[in-house]
Formats: sequence, structure tokens, C-alpha cells
Amino acid sequence: MNYSRIAVFASGQGSNFAALAQAQREGRLGGGVIELLVSDRPEAPVAQRAQEAGIASLLLRPKDFDSREQYEARIVEELKRREIGLIVLAGYMRLITPVLLAPYEGRIINIHPSLLPAFAGKDAIGQALDYGVKLTGVTVHFVDGGMDTGPVIAQRALAVEDGDTADSLAERIHRIEYELYPEVVAAFAAGKIKLDGRKATVRQ
Ligand code: GRF
Repeated sequence: MNYSRIAVFASGQGSNFAALAQAQREGRLGGGVIELLVSDRPEAPVAQRAQEAGIASLLLRPKDFDSREQYEARIVEELKRREIGLIVLAGYMRLITPVLLAPYEGRIINIHPSLLPAFAGKDAIGQALDYGVKLTGVTVHFVDGGMDTGPVIAQRALAVEDGDTADSLAERIHRIEYELYPEVVAAFAAGKIKLDGRKATVRQ
């Protein structure tokens, strides 16, 4: 299986997209190449970032389609045309349906700003602060049909400091994301990630 042709899906700022594109430029993506940005928000800043990086993009409005399934079928058509082997979700704010999941099972990963299974779903950083945990972090995981429920590939923890705000904590979490995601994507692109049940391992 060739995982080196990558599509990144994003809905927002795209700072993780930019970190991945930079890693590719610097030869830190394990031979992986970002062939396509897919976004469900054509006006999102990430679209501009793709343009600046010279990366092709597929920008679609889900409401222009009759159903979520038809929206995803259009995406799958484009992924197949470009022979995409790995889908990297980076702030893509939609649940994936079986239309995309079935043909790409085991080849879709996501990054989430908490130590899953704690604080799945939206505003994980705010959830962690409100709960008062002393440790939180970042998780990269396989995507399944649930909300942040797929097998964990990698996690990195950081301490919540007294006086942290959502902004200060988010800044430290993002810094970890920009390191961890390119590392995991590089391992994936190089075929080094194995999944056995819920246990993912990374071959060194
Ligand atoms: C990141 O914090 C990521 O963990 C979460 O969404 C955020 C995306 O940020 N899934 P950006 O668009 O990459 O700046």
C-alpha cells in the first residue's frame, strides 16, 4: 500500500496544514507529498495557505449538494483521480460518513488537542481547562465513524499551568501539534504504522 500521496482536509486556519507543508519542503515528511487540500469552507484561511504553497485544492460547500453522501462522493472521485493513499484531517470540522470511510478505512488520521479519550469533540482545550486537569496534550489517531474514537497512534502530554487561559494553553498545544503531526505523517507515508485491533504501533 502506498501512503505517500496525501490529501489534507481542513476547515479553518490551517496552521497544521502549513506545518505539514513546511515539513514536506524540509524533507521531513517521510517521502510523503501533499497532493491536495480538501476544504468544506472555501472562504477559510487554509485555502489561501494552499494557494501560497502551490498545493491544489478542492473547495466545496456541503450545502451545494443534496446530501452529505453526495458531497463525500465528489471528494472520493477526486481522491481516486489523484491516487491519494492517505487522508490527514487537520481541523476538519465534519464527521466522516461511510462513503469516504469505506474506501479509505485505516488510511484516515486526525489530530485532536487533548489526551483522548478525555475531552473528545469541540473545544477540547476549553473542556480541559474547565475540568481543571493538570495534564492535557495532543492525540493523533485513526478515524472511524465516531467523534474522536479511533485507535490512538501517538500522544504527547503537557502541563496545565496555574493561570493558563484558553489562548495560552492553545499556543503551547499548537506548538506540540506542529511537531507531532509531521512526525506521524512521515511514519505513515513511510509505511511504518501498523494497526492490530485498537493497538497502533510505529516501527522505528
Ligand atoms: C487543531 O488544534 C487541531 O488539533 C484541531 O483543530 C485545530 C486546527 O487548527 N483538530 P489549524 O486549523 O490547523 O490552525
